Amino acid sequence: MERIVEIQDMIAAARRARREGKTIGFVPTMGYFHDGHLRLMTRARQESDLVVVSLFVNPTQFGPGEDLASYPRDPEGDAAKAASVGVDVLFCPRAEDMYPPGSRTSVHVEGITDKLCGESRPGHFRGVATVVGKLFHIVQPQRAYFGLKDYQQFLVIKRMVADLNWDLEVVGVETVRDPDGVAMSSRNVYLSPRQRQSALSLNRSLRRAQELIDEGERRPETILAVVKEMISQQPQVRIDYVVLCDPETLEEVSLLQGDTLLALAAFVGKSRLIDNAVLSVP
Ligand code: PAF
Repeated sequence: MERIVEIQDMIAAARRARREGKTIGFVPTMGYFHDGHLRLMTRARQESDLVVVSLFVNPTQFGPGEDLASYPRDPEGDAAKAASVGVDVLFCPRAEDMYPPGSRTSVHVEGITDKLCGESRPGHFRGVATVVGKLFHIVQPQRAYFGLKDYQQFLVIKRMVADLNWDLEVVGVETVRDPDGVAMSSRNVYLSPRQRQSALSLNRSLRRAQELIDEGERRPETILAVVKEMISQQPQVRIDYVVLCDPETLEEVSLLQGDTLLALAAFVGKSRLIDNAVLSVP
């Protein structure tokens, strides 16, 4: 596996691959790899000639007081894990090269970025869309892979790619969970054993919501009340949001029908965890 730091070197490697007729599969990441990341890389490996993974803790998607400085990092461990699943290039640009003095341009996807995580983290999706857009230009992939745990992020990137006529496919990959059901996240490393117990309630409440639907419940307020109760009765948990909404527009629904996204975010200790499920209403 090759490690590239310079943006120009990455552009040159991508151009070379394209000239040789190779397809480029791209996994953008902020590092501290877990099996969720490795699943994205493995999928990219199956579907592409050249697999590029970026490792860049993007400062513009963190708000003031968020965990940019303490975001978990393990560059050597990450390199070993990426190599073990057959990644060809690990692209690790420097922040000062990604955002040189004088940078003035950002990408803003309207509407869907105001809701859910966008409401709690103003500016977050502008930072995400901007860095992913820049990485797409540098890496020039035909396919890019995103985990569906960050469902809203996936939607924002898909919208950006469609609106800006990018010639690439945005692939969403199912959330990978630990055997106890907790969605894998780099931020799980912050959880104490007690907090991890509390975190179990996130996925359990999603599953309970589907059960309620299967039992015939269709009122969003009833399902939301059950989910909130299950989560908030856990120690050291503070709910940020729990929303039942349309999986495309993220507009809240007043009656359950068809596919409905149940998305939630909660602080468990100091970790802000998110999870979601697309609930199917028969
Ligand atoms: O999902 C992430 O890790 C980040 O938001 C991403 C897509 C790598 C952009 O920094």
